[in-house]
Amino acid sequence: MSQVASYRILAKYYDSFAGKKRYKEWEVFLNSLVKKYKIEKKIAVDLACGTGINSKTLRNIGFEKVLGVDNSREMLAEAKKKYKDISFARKDFLSFSGKEFANVDLVTCFYDSLNYLLKESELKKTFKNVYNSLKIGGVFVFDLNTPGHAKGISNNKPSIFTNEDLFVIMDNKVKGRFWFLNLSILVRKKGNTFSLFKEIHTEKMYEEGVVVNLLKSVGFKILEIKKENKKYQDGKTYNNRIYYIVKK
Ligand SMILES: C[S@@+](CC[C@H](N)C(=O)[O-])C[C@H]1O[C@@H](n2cnc3c(N)ncnc32)[C@H](O)[C@@H]1O
Repeated sequence: MSQVASYRILAKYYDSFAGKKRYKEWEVFLNSLVKKYKIEKKIAVDLACGTGINSKTLRNIGFEKVLGVDNSREMLAEAKKKYKDISFARKDFLSFSGKEFANVDLVTCFYDSLNYLLKESELKKTFKNVYNSLKIGGVFVFDLNTPGHAKGISNNKPSIFTNEDLFVIMDNKVKGRFWFLNLSILVRKKGNTFSLFKEIHTEKMYEEGVVVNLLKSVGFKILEIKKENKKYQDGKTYNNRIYYIVKK
C-alpha cells in the first residue's frame, strides 16, 4: 500500500465521486449573486478549482476570462483535459499573487477547500491574497465546513464509494477542530487485480466569528452569510457549511 498526497489518485475519479447536484445548485447561487451585486463579468478567479467544474460555471455565466488556480498537479491535469477555454495555473493559497491576479471582479472558492488550511494565520494570509487580487468593489464568495460538521461526522460509520474501476473506503476521525478523512482507495489495475493507495485529507473547522474577524481584519466588508444544514448518520441535523459573501 502507498500513502500518497491528497487528490493524487482521487483526482482522476473526482467528478463521479463529488456528484453533480451540488454544482448545479452552485451555478444557480452564483448566477443570483452576480445579478444581485451587479458584478462585472470580466475576470473571475476560481480558487482551489480542482477539476474545474465551478470554473466552467463561471464561463457559462458569462465571465470573459476565467482563471482556475489549484496546488494539485493531478486535479489541474483533469481540469485542463476538459476545458480548453479556461486558463489554469498551479498556485498555492498562500502564494498566489502577481499581475495575472490583479483587478479581478469575482473570486470563488467552493467545497470546503479553505478548510485545508490548518492555521488561522494561513487563512488570514489567503484572505489577504484574495483581497489584493480583487478590484475595489470586487466580490469573494467561499464556503467552509463548520464545527457542526465535525460533530455530525464524528459518529459516522465508515462508508464506501464504488464504480467499475474503483473502491473507496471513507473513514472519519475527529480530534477537536480537526477532521481526518482517511481514504483507502483500491484502483483496478487489470482484471481483478487492484492497487491500494491511502490518502488522508485533513481539514480544520473554523468558527463563524473567527472567520468574520479575519475577513474584517484584512479589509473585507461582509455582504451576506448563509448557513446550510445537513442530517448526519446519527439522525441529528447540524449546521454543516457556511457561505461567506464579502466585498473589497
Ligand atoms: C474538495 S476539493 C474542491 C475542488 C473544487 N473547488 C470543487 O468545488 O470541485 C478541494 C481542492 O482544494 C485544493 N487545495 C487544497 N489545499 C490547497 C492549497 N493550499 N492551495 C491551493 N489549492 C488547495 C485541492 O487540491 C482540491 O482541488
